[in-house]
Amino acid sequence: MKKIVIYGSHYGATKAYAEYIAGRLSCPCIPADKLKAEHLKGCAAVIFGGGVYAGSIAGWKKAAPLIAKAAPEKIVLFVCGLADPAKEKTQREARMLFEKRLPEQMRGAPVFCLRGGIDYAKLNFKHRTMMAMLIKFLKHKKELSEEDRQLLATYGGKVDFIDLATAAPVINAAALPEGDAV
Ligand SMILES: Cc1cc2nc3c(=O)[nH]c(=O)nc-3n(C[C@H](O)[C@H](O)[C@H](O)COP(=O)(O)O)c2cc1C
Repeated sequence: MKKIVIYGSHYGATKAYAEYIAGRLSCPCIPADKLKAEHLKGCAAVIFGGGVYAGSIAGWKKAAPLIAKAAPEKIVLFVCGLADPAKEKTQREARMLFEKRLPEQMRGAPVFCLRGGIDYAKLNFKHRTMMAMLIKFLKHKKELSEEDRQLLATYGGKVDFIDLATAAPVINAAALPEGDAV
């Protein structure tokens, strides 16, 4: 059964997870900006992962219509962000961001939240500006969440929460029932 992993990643965190997942599933792994309809032809399972960027998922705008058109038997989705994957809010927002670009009949696919990282020294101008604005906002916020506090504490530095083992549920969900579980 043909599978493919597609990803949207600006700084490599999602790419690292996507390549690991594709390696475990022995299938191709391609960036969303290179995705063409031909890649999806005959694919029974499509796994898409994207980095979360302030209310959008990298690569999803490009990939979603192509995946919807290909209508694979199975879609497995994951986001990679800084927010705590265990929190219901993180999961709800990830599903919402994915599903707003999917036709109704394709909603309800499994959505997983994985944790990435950030290295402020590597951010481009746009992303650095966005983070500076967020930090300015947080400095004036009355009640800070644990995540807010963590963002403030690590601002300007580098954090890395990447843990490839946490991708196991994505791999299991992508394994088709016909005896090819990994
Ligand atoms: C401008 C900007 C906005 C971000 N917004 C969010 C966000 O809304 N939620 C979140 O969990 N992480 C957010 N992040 C963190 C990224 O999702 C995280 O750095 C992730 O590892 C990026 O993956 P990538 O390297 O594959 O692009 C943001 C990072 C930047 C630079």
